[in-house]
Amino acid sequence: MNQENSQDSLPDDRQPTTRVMARPGDTNGAGDIFGGWIMSQVDIAASIAAYRRAKGRVVTVAVNEFQFHKPVFVGDLISCYAQITNVGRTSITIFVEVYAERNREGREECIKVTKATLTFVAVDEDRNPRVVPPA
Ligand SMILES: CC(C)(COP(=O)(O)OP(=O)(O)OC[C@H]1O[C@@H](n2cnc3c(N)ncnc32)[C@H](O)[C@@H]1OP(=O)(O)O)[C@@H](O)C(=O)NCCC(=O)NCCS
Repeated sequence: MNQENSQDSLPDDRQPTTRVMARPGDTNGAGDIFGGWIMSQVDIAASIAAYRRAKGRVVTVAVNEFQFHKPVFVGDLISCYAQITNVGRTSITIFVEVYAERNREGREECIKVTKATLTFVAVDEDRNPRVVPPA
């Protein structure tokens, strides 16, 4: 791939669920962004989509798939796009795509860095599964 053009673009048909800047405190010992930080951002974005659909409290029951395609660096603007892919009786499955926007040495880039699928369960006040209400 041509380096100058080797970039993705943000989805233009939807809004990101979350946006956050990767900061120095989010790095691992090597100075790169810690994978666990990205996993946390994905969980937050997915939980927002699940919470809205469940019209209330949800908990993460499973991380079905998680792929780190490209590294994330300090200063990257991270956008998480969460989409509902399945609604069960009490569960909601969410697909999340993560993009990093950066400007290095005057060159703007937008790279799809991560994708993941997570399942949430709608729970009641006693943390027991509850039926997902109609949309
Ligand atoms: C989520 C929780 C309430 C589910 O309780 P449970 O008694 O296991 O509930 P069930 O077996 O009835 O499963 C509930 C739903 O989750 C789904 N589910 C359970 N385990 C799953 C898994 N590993 N992957 C995908 N879906 C799963 C079931 O298929 C079911 O979906 P459906 O109702 O749409 O068919 C319970 O496991 C729990 O409290 N887990 C801890 C959650 C948590 O604290 N998360 C944050 C971690 S820090």
